[in-house]
Amino acid sequence: MEAPRTDEDIRDVNTRYHDVAADGYDAKWGIDFGEPGRRQVLMKLRKVVGGADLERGWKRSLEIGSGTGYFSLNLLQAGMIERATCTDISPGMLATLRGNAERLGLEVETVETGAEVLPFADASFDLVLGHAILHHIPDLPKAFAEFHRVLRPGGTVVFAGEPSRYGDRIARVPKRGAAAVAPLWRRAIGARAAGSVPYANGNGNGNGAGHDAHAEDHALERFVDIHAFAPGDLAAAARSAGFVDVTVRGEELVANWFGWTNRVLESSAVPEDVPWGWRQYAYRGYLALQQLDRRLLEGRLPAAIFYNLLVSGRKAA
Ligand SMILES: C[S@@+](CC[C@H](N)C(=O)[O-])C[C@H]1O[C@@H](n2cnc3c(N)ncnc32)[C@H](O)[C@@H]1O
Repeated sequence: MEAPRTDEDIRDVNTRYHDVAADGYDAKWGIDFGEPGRRQVLMKLRKVVGGADLERGWKRSLEIGSGTGYFSLNLLQAGMIERATCTDISPGMLATLRGNAERLGLEVETVETGAEVLPFADASFDLVLGHAILHHIPDLPKAFAEFHRVLRPGGTVVFAGEPSRYGDRIARVPKRGAAAVAPLWRRAIGARAAGSVPYANGNGNGNGAGHDAHAEDHALERFVDIHAFAPGDLAAAARSAGFVDVTVRGEELVANWFGWTNRVLESSAVPEDVPWGWRQYAYRGYLALQQLDRRLLEGRLPAAIFYNLLVSGRKAA
């Protein structure tokens, strides 16, 4: 498949990839709507949003690229927002989000839209937020101008989980190392190589369509991420749109190396062959290293070297 050339092609690839990925998305990325998920989301917000805002919470929120609802559904459950509007360019992701909301007994409004043209009146929301979305958007200045327009004066904008350019480069080292030792690792845990058996759990229908979906997912995935940022890029995008009190922070360094190593190893094996004990070790190890990053490294080292960036700002009152 050819790489997408125009902004429209990039949006189209993003829509198709995320539609295919929607079914297995939460399992693939370990998205959780219980206590651990809420803790993760709140921890990220606390890194860039002032304590007073967090104590008050927000009445109306708008999430951009909300996917299956990781941020909005967890914030609703935590009582941080009263009414959530979730937007996404992928109808498949929004359908999964509605299923998640129903299961959790939560009410949300979902609206299918790209980030650069938002179908909402000026000053409609108290909070505009997103997680792992800015790096997919072709026209960032246009999108930031929209975030500013739909936010009420004094409102908060916050985006987390954006890939950092240098952090991403540094993370290639553990990724390559893991790919090199993957065959040995599989032998040690007794797992078969991914792709060595017909794909059985792709879309859960067990009739072979899962294989097609999995193959398409792989073919499109490498085209959906179009930016990696230096901290100054995100600050400049927010300030150019008119936001004030702009803050950018970096998060996850050692946890990220550990997480990517395990993700590369695990993705090299048939999922059913990866032992439960290994998954527990990977999950708990990641959480422990996340705390180490937060307590020891994030306040001391430059934001640029961390894997994820967070940006927040305010619309002048
Ligand atoms: C990496 S996923 C993150 C989903 C969710 N925020 C999360 O953290 O789990 C990116 C999401 O952005 C959506 N997306 C991609 N391009 C978009 C665009 N131009 N406008 C709005 N949403 C977009 C995708 O469909 C997908 O649901």
